[in-house]
Amino acid sequence: MSLLVVSCLKSQLADDFANALDVPLIQVSYGLFADTEVYVDVKESELISGSEILFVHQFFLSDPRCNGSINDQLTNLLIACDLLRNIGARKITTILPYLAYSRQDESFGGKFAGPVKLMGRFLKAAGIDSVFACDLHSEKLFDLFQIQLEEISLVDFWAEQLRSLFKEEIDKNLVCIASPDIGGLNRANRIAQILNVPVVYLEKKRINPDNPVALCLHGDVNSKTVIIVDDIIDTGRTAIQASLMLKMHGATKIIGVFTHAVFSPGIIDRLTKSDFYKIYITNSLLNSFEKPHKKISVCSINKYLIQKISEKLS
Ligand code: R5P
Repeated sequence: MSLLVVSCLKSQLADDFANALDVPLIQVSYGLFADTEVYVDVKESELISGSEILFVHQFFLSDPRCNGSINDQLTNLLIACDLLRNIGARKITTILPYLAYSRQDESFGGKFAGPVKLMGRFLKAAGIDSVFACDLHSEKLFDLFQIQLEEISLVDFWAEQLRSLFKEEIDKNLVCIASPDIGGLNRANRIAQILNVPVVYLEKKRINPDNPVALCLHGDVNSKTVIIVDDIIDTGRTAIQASLMLKMHGATKIIGVFTHAVFSPGIIDRLTKSDFYKIYITNSLLNSFEKPHKKISVCSINKYLIQKISEKLS
């Protein structure tokens, strides 16, 4: 069975995948009817029929190419995969470095399964066989998804980045890792263990979906460079609340490490005015800034992701 890489947009990650695997890259085109319904077109149907597809899809919000909400982009993906199946694709593996809806593993208030379960069903209905995603929000997702879900953890990736960025401070025992909530403590702990530095965590409460409050800090951060580690940064409020609490307890420098930079409107301004000294994000979502931002650095996960996924596929 021949292999093809397919993507919705021109993306460096899709290019890199096709080059690394030495297979053709096909770009699906989208359009909108006057009433905003999506239509999808793909020219290379002879190539697709009978092939195995690796569908690379990076979500994006704060990007000039942004042509719709996360929900619109999900609809595009579903319609495109459904079309590929109708053309005769034999198998579809999607690479969604950021799995939209993943933080909604439970309903708001936590009593019921959250909408990510429905997203899993939509992906299955569109003919998708399996999904690769980075740094999943929680382990619950494995039970909620009805199709194969594989996590590419970026714990080693981040530990390596941090070791080279903060070598001197780590060697002088001046660094600690912080989780802004209990949910992220396992990830923070694993990074701290690799770096052999202490870990602290905060307790957080959400008053409403976009309004978290940091309640208290567990651990000592006095005179330390504190690296806040989280899977997602969206409005930035969780991170900023945590930074205020850490500063109040004597942290000297606050660094942020966030895998998925959803970056909804207003965040750049908030981060610019915040106590963060430096913020590291990945390109799991497409992001582009009008000009390089002095506090924000984007670390490319392309090489790491391609290596990990190729190992799993072989
Ligand atoms: C939720 O628990 C996640 O791990 C993140 O902490 C959250 O999604 C960040 O969102 P925001 O930046 O809007 O506070």
